[in-house]
Amino acid sequence: MSYPQYVKLVDVGPRDGLQNEKQPVPAAVKIALVHMLQQAGLKEIEVTSFVSPKWVPQMADNAEVMAGLVRRPGVRYSVLTPNMKGLEAALAAPGEQWPDEIVVFGAASEAFSQKNINCSIAESIERFAPVVEAARAKGIHVRGAMSCTVGCPYEGEIAPERVGYLAGLMKSIGVQHVGVADTIGVGTPIAVRRAIEATLAHYDIDNVSGHFHDTYGQALANTLAALAMGVWQFDTSVAGLGGCPYAKGATGNVATEDVVYMLHGMGIDTGIDLDALIDAGQFISEHLGRPSQSRVARAILAKRAAP
Ligand code: HMG
Ligand code: MG
Repeated sequence: MSYPQYVKLVDVGPRDGLQNEKQPVPAAVKIALVHMLQQAGLKEIEVTSFVSPKWVPQMADNAEVMAGLVRRPGVRYSVLTPNMKGLEAALAAPGEQWPDEIVVFGAASEAFSQKNINCSIAESIERFAPVVEAARAKGIHVRGAMSCTVGCPYEGEIAPERVGYLAGLMKSIGVQHVGVADTIGVGTPIAVRRAIEATLAHYDIDNVSGHFHDTYGQALANTLAALAMGVWQFDTSVAGLGGCPYAKGATGNVATEDVVYMLHGMGIDTGIDLDALIDAGQFISEHLGRPSQSRVARAILAKRAAP
């Protein structure tokens, strides 16, 4: 079995991780978290989302967070923009505060599309099309998140054909890269492999990433299954933060620390300093007042604390 030699991790903790927090997290804490992640060697960070503050109050400070970043060369900063209003808000700031990448987010499940972004899959593509065009015209990279590619909290199992259908629509409007998301973390390796295979009918392997929530504890196994197919880009979340407010019961993304430990153990380079990453996870976990969800972080912290 051959695996990629290098894996790029996109830490989505500041966005996917924090969007679901009930208690407000100050912009300064979000900014400090991003700074610690870039210090740890992350090359891409999903910072915030330009969505309706009525729907996701935690991300209402999006402009403040973007404005407060001290950027590190070579790091890509991405934000979610579900419609033109979101893109315009992201681009209202001075150019140096623009995101390097925007993310449009659709779903393989009709019911989830309605609950999450209040429109059908077809309508979502119509909304995304001008967003994609305007972003690309400004040289901003466009990623598409595909939610519920193996299971949906409302519709249950999702067939790979539905994933292929959505990937084809994303491709048709100029989305450059797609993420295959297991939003509620129910997937197992073969189901995830099928969802990725359906995506590969439309995108090449260098433009497909995995985004696995860990609700059922399957995310590392799913990551390994994707790696075995040649997928080398994954969204992960420091300290395993998060979940989607429109996917009840879904917990955070697979912890970045856990994926880094696995990859380094397999001899795969990530450019990430695990110790510095654990410090970032500790920082945000202490702020939130609960232990990290990362098993690796807990193990290493216990070792650090040992006399
Ligand atoms: P809508 O109500 O259908 O939109 O919401 P609308 O165009 O009819 O506008 C209604 C109101 O929202 C108006 O304000 C708009 O101005 C405002 P009002 O006149 O009532 O005062 N509005 C906005 N405000 C700020 N920014 C915007 C914006 N757009 C409209 N961009 C909308 C449609 C998509 C906006 C809404 O459904 C929404 O914000 N949903 C949030 C969805 C979300 O953030 N979900 C979590 C992220 S997705 C995720 O976590 C999954 C992912 O991780 C992958 C995975 O795991 O599957 C990516
Ligand atoms: Mg997610």
